[in-house]
Formats: sequence, structure tokens, C-alpha cells
Amino acid sequence: MTPKPRWVHAAVLLCLGLLLSVALLHAPGPVPGAKPMLGRALSGSAEAWPITPLPQAVVLDARKVALGRQLFHDPRLSRDNTVACANCHVLAAGGVDRQPVSTGIGGRKGQLNAPTVYNVAYNDRQFWDGRALSLEAQVDGPLHNPDEMGSNWDEVLGKLKEDAQLRREIEALYPAGLVAASLRDALATFERALVTPDAPFDRHLRGDQQALSPVALEGWRLFRELGCVSCHQGVNVGGNLYEKLGLVEDFYGSRGTPRPADLGRYNLTRDDEHRYEFRVPPLRNVALTAPYLHDGSVATLDEAVQIMARYQLGVRLKPREVQQLVAFLEALTGRPAPAAISGNIEAHTP
Ligand code: HEC
Ligand code: HEC
Repeated sequence: MTPKPRWVHAAVLLCLGLLLSVALLHAPGPVPGAKPMLGRALSGSAEAWPITPLPQAVVLDARKVALGRQLFHDPRLSRDNTVACANCHVLAAGGVDRQPVSTGIGGRKGQLNAPTVYNVAYNDRQFWDGRALSLEAQVDGPLHNPDEMGSNWDEVLGKLKEDAQLRREIEALYPAGLVAASLRDALATFERALVTPDAPFDRHLRGDQQALSPVALEGWRLFRELGCVSCHQGVNVGGNLYEKLGLVEDFYGSRGTPRPADLGRYNLTRDDEHRYEFRVPPLRNVALTAPYLHDGSVATLDEAVQIMARYQLGVRLKPREVQQLVAFLEALTGRPAPAAISGNIEAHTP
């Protein structure tokens, strides 16, 4: 037998190296073709999991935060002066309305479940289909949506101009005065203050060995090993990728009653590849934001976790595993920074 030439050894080593690096890049477990929205790659090493803690301090202009807070609660942003942002994003209730779909002006029902407004600054894009690229741009959505506030800027600015005090406040902060851009900026600045740092999981990530219960720790291990983290990742544990619901098994076949809103990103792009695709939702504070999924069809976190495992990963979880994953998700509940409630933030430090 002739000895193999050296290049064969080199090639074998190279292949092994490549295999290993691919495995590490895609750790943990299956990565079901998740499409990065902004090309952000998974973290490169098994130690550095691609979830990072929320920053503990946010520095914002306190006056703009206060103004934004006021606008967030102002029903004059709706056509008939009955619906404020805060109607559907209840700050004392995790930033949601706890309804499958929201109710706007004249009792009109929307198509989609209201996501939380907490930590929205850490989503790469806004909305279930990711159509708003910034918080400023997002504001135009609810303001014009006939099922939400059903208004327009001319109407809103016309009403607010009658309010001499509000007008003075806005003019003091924005050289352009009472124009749509000032209102968008104030609302977005307020939303940037809606952060919930210091969840037990954040403390765990910063090295506190006691922060997670043994059950939650097991849940975190499962979250990585099963591959949940390949979709729910980044600082918001989601919010930075697009994926289909029903990657492995047909979700809609089981749920029945197809709805136009189920088509997700397809409604935006009309590209067949985008059928049923949604922005992977962020999971911070998810224990507070039932019901779940874009259609609000799932009442409990237990059920949502089982659906995810089955339809996204092809795994039937044991009851114990459901309990562990839910304990991990509960450890993603943070404390609203005082600013979120008082509108009086300059810096939040723990
Ligand atoms: C009638 C209920 C309703 C009102 C009023 C409302 N929203 Fe929403 N909000 C929703 C729903 C439902 C969605 C999801 C819609 C979608 O994805 O197309 C949403 C999405 C959002 C998002 C995106 C969050 C994410 O994770 O993608 C932000 C931010 C937001 N709203 C802020 C606001 C602001 C600011 C106002 C006031 C100007 C407002 N909302 C008014 C129901 C409402
Ligand atoms: C292939 C990507 C992918 C994987 C893997 C995945 N998810 Fe999801 N997850 C999604 C998408 C997309 C949605 C939103 C689907 C919808 O509403 O149409 C979602 C929704 C959720 C929700 C509901 C969030 C809300 O606010 O309504 C929870 C909870 C959740 N996932 C947990 C998990 C857990 C736990 C795992 C692992 C067992 C997991 N996910 C695996 C993509 C994924």
C-alpha cells in the first residue's frame, strides 16, 4: 500500500476544520434556514451565545420622553378622539391589551395581535411583517389604520394646534414646531425609554450564577439544544429575523380558517417565498403578553412552546420540558425602568 500523499492529509484536515467551524457557527442544533433581515450572523462560539443582556442605562432627553409619554396617552391622535396608543399598549400590562386582536375606533377589530411596546428599540424592524424600519416610521401605521386610529396628520395637527400649551411645549423642544416629524420623534423617544433591564436571564448572562432557578437553567439548555435560539436571538431574543410559522408541520392545516393576515410578509412583497413569513417575535417579557402568535390564537405560554417545538422544529416535548422552557421564558421578564412609568428619565442605572 502506498502512503497517501501529504495533500490528502491536508485536505482531510481542512474538511474536518470546515465541518467543525460550520458546526460552531450554527451551534446550537438545527438552524432551519432562518433568513437574517440585516445579515446579522449567529455568534461564532459555543460560549458566546447570540443573546446579549439589555443595556442597564438609557440616556434620553427627559423632556422629549415626557412629551412622547403624553402623546402616547392622547386620544386626539385618533379620528374620533377615543383611542390612544396606550389603549392597545397598556404600559401597566406588559405593553399589550391581552386580547387576541385589538379594538380601534368605533369598536373595529384588527387582524393581528398587538405586540408589546417594551424594548421595541431593540427590534431591527417593527411590526409582524417588519414593514417599518424605524420607530419614527412605525407611528404612521396605527395613526392611519382604519381599524386602529383611522386618522391622518392634517387632522391630528389641526386638533393639536388648538392646544396652546401643547404647542408651546413642542415649540420649545423642536425648531420645526408642531409638525408630524416632531410628534414622531417624541413618540419614538418615549418608546426608547420603555426598557426592562435586569431580567433574571440578563443577570445570568452577566455572570450571576444564582440568577436562574435550576428549572429555568434546564430550559435555557433546551432552548439552545432544540434550536429555539437559532430564530429567537439577539438582545431582544427575537425581532431580527424572518421565518415561516409551520416550517416543519402545517400550522394552518391544523388551526383551520385561513385568514388574509396569515400570509404575513407576502401581503407586503407579493413574493411567493414570503408566504406565511413573519418577523420572529422578541420573547422578552413574553410571560406577560398572552395571548400568543400573530393571530392571538394561543392562550397560554405552555401551548405556545409546544406549538413552536412541533411546527418549527418537529419535536414533541415532554411535559417536564415544556415546564423547563416556560421557566426559562419567565426569566426573561424584566423590570420597567422608572422612566417607562414616570416619563422622567435621564439615565437609568440599577
Ligand atoms: C387599536 C390598537 C392599537 C393602537 C391604537 C396602536 N397600536 Fe401599536 N400595534 C397594534 C397592533 C395590532 C400592532 C401589530 C400590527 C402589525 O404588525 O401590523 C401594533 C404594533 C406596534 C409596534 C410594533 C411593535 C413590534 O414589535 O413590532 C409599535 C412600536 C407600536 N405598535 C406602537 C404604537 C404607537 C406609538 C401607537 C400610537 C401612535 C400605537 N402603537 C397605537 C395595536 C395598536
Ligand atoms: C424557525 C424559527 C423558529 C424556531 C426554531 C422557534 N421559533 Fe418561536 N416563533 C417563530 C415565529 C416566526 C413566531 C411567530 C409566528 C406567528 O405568530 O405567526 C414565533 C413565536 C413564538 C412565541 C410566541 C411569541 C408571541 O409574542 O406571540 C413563543 C413563546 C416562541 N416562539 C417560543 C419558541 C420556543 C420556546 C422555541 C423552541 C422550542 C421556538 N420558539 C422555536 C420562529 C421560531
